[in-house]
Amino acid sequence: MARIALVGASSRVTAFLGVLRKDIYKDVHEVVAMFDIDPGKMEGFKKKFQLEVPCFTDFDEMCDTIKPDMVIVTTVDATHAEFVIKALDRKIAVVSEKPLCINAEQCKQIRDAKARNPEVFAVTSHNARYSPMTLKVKAMIEEGVIGKVLRMEYTEMLDRKHGTSYFRRWNSRRACSNGLELHKSCHHFDKMNFLLDSKAVEITGMGDLNYHGQRNPHKYEGKRCHECEHKDVCPDFFAYDKELFTSDAIYTPDLCIWSPDIDIEDNYAAVIRFESGVLCSYSVCAHSQYEGEVIIIEGETGRIEAKNVYFRDINDQSNIHDTNIITNQTLTLCRFGKGEPEVIEVPKGEGGHGGADLGIFGKIFATPPADNIPTMEDGIQAVLMGAALVESIKKGGCVIKVQEMI
Ligand SMILES: NC(=O)c1ccc[n+]([C@@H]2O[C@H](COP(=O)([O-])OP(=O)(O)OC[C@H]3O[C@@H](n4cnc5c(N)ncnc54)[C@H](O)[C@@H]3O)[C@@H](O)[C@H]2O)c1
Repeated sequence: MARIALVGASSRVTAFLGVLRKDIYKDVHEVVAMFDIDPGKMEGFKKKFQLEVPCFTDFDEMCDTIKPDMVIVTTVDATHAEFVIKALDRKIAVVSEKPLCINAEQCKQIRDAKARNPEVFAVTSHNARYSPMTLKVKAMIEEGVIGKVLRMEYTEMLDRKHGTSYFRRWNSRRACSNGLELHKSCHHFDKMNFLLDSKAVEITGMGDLNYHGQRNPHKYEGKRCHECEHKDVCPDFFAYDKELFTSDAIYTPDLCIWSPDIDIEDNYAAVIRFESGVLCSYSVCAHSQYEGEVIIIEGETGRIEAKNVYFRDINDQSNIHDTNIITNQTLTLCRFGKGEPEVIEVPKGEGGHGGADLGIFGKIFATPPADNIPTMEDGIQAVLMGAALVESIKKGGCVIKVQEMI
């Protein structure tokens, strides 16, 4: 029986908890402790999710007392590195949420810690590569249906429900996340690396804060919705979950989306050169009219177009990541000289993130775990790309050598 400690009373960890409670895992894995800096949040979490475990506000004390076999790290992005490194050096298996960390320096520290402890099981939870669409595209590339891959286009749209949600939370402060280039784009960068079976060598990019925060001075600007003078009239008022955040919480996920403290971009574009020679044009808009992703892969003998688009009412209360809201998913293959594109069937995924969660959890919690799970190095490669993009944006679009960042 593997004894698991949850590092972070986060909303994300509920996905892990849900799966660990399934019949197939509940006799082989046991959640034995929880750690977070916010005791009130842990209490709220335990009550809401009926979890009876000891709680700690000191990571070392938790490890010394509980001696877990595995930790699952789902704290604020900037803090992952500390817990990942400590776990590795204590020979505790570690699953870290993406992004593995937020800058090149932390990447180096994690790479060194893994080199000191090569035998320790360590995973970066890059679930996005396990969506049915991504797995299908990967299989098509490997089957050689488009020949050698030459270029890629990757467009990400985050609508004003999902995209804006980042600007209400810690994610919108560079010190916590280093920007969506890390927090969000690490999913896309990992998918690129996975699909192309390569790694990035150069990145150049530009970005802006276009819609949220100080770029858009707003008559309803405040600090936090629940205490804001405009709360009865502001169309962007947000009510957070009071079961999880006690009245004395230092942080609540209802920060004003018009706050001048927002210091990240909500709109950026990049060009990425991969070791394999592929050039990729990439863009993210976090204030889009609708949600979705379009990936185009141009090969010597064919072209793949993968589209996932979600249309929803801005007031729709369904979960942002609910599989059922995908309203338009298409995968087409254009073979050179063959006229009309072929429509390729994609199996429908079950569960969170369009099936991607179950894809990765099944591998992590299998006994023994599957051997082709995203590694620390995979996590590092995605972070380096994000950090390089942030650096390029800061320097007005100059070309950054990704692998030389460490
Ligand atoms: N793979 C995915 O699809 C996916 C989806 C959502 C979130 N995530 C990741 O999961 C993580 C959690 O995200 P969330 O939105 O659920 O966060 P959240 O805001 O719900 O929870 C973050 C927790 O971290 C705690 N925390 C803050 N600073 C800390 C510190 N110094 N030490 C210990 N704990 C600290 C907070 O008290 C909070 O309970 C992030 O890294 C995010 O990138 C991954």
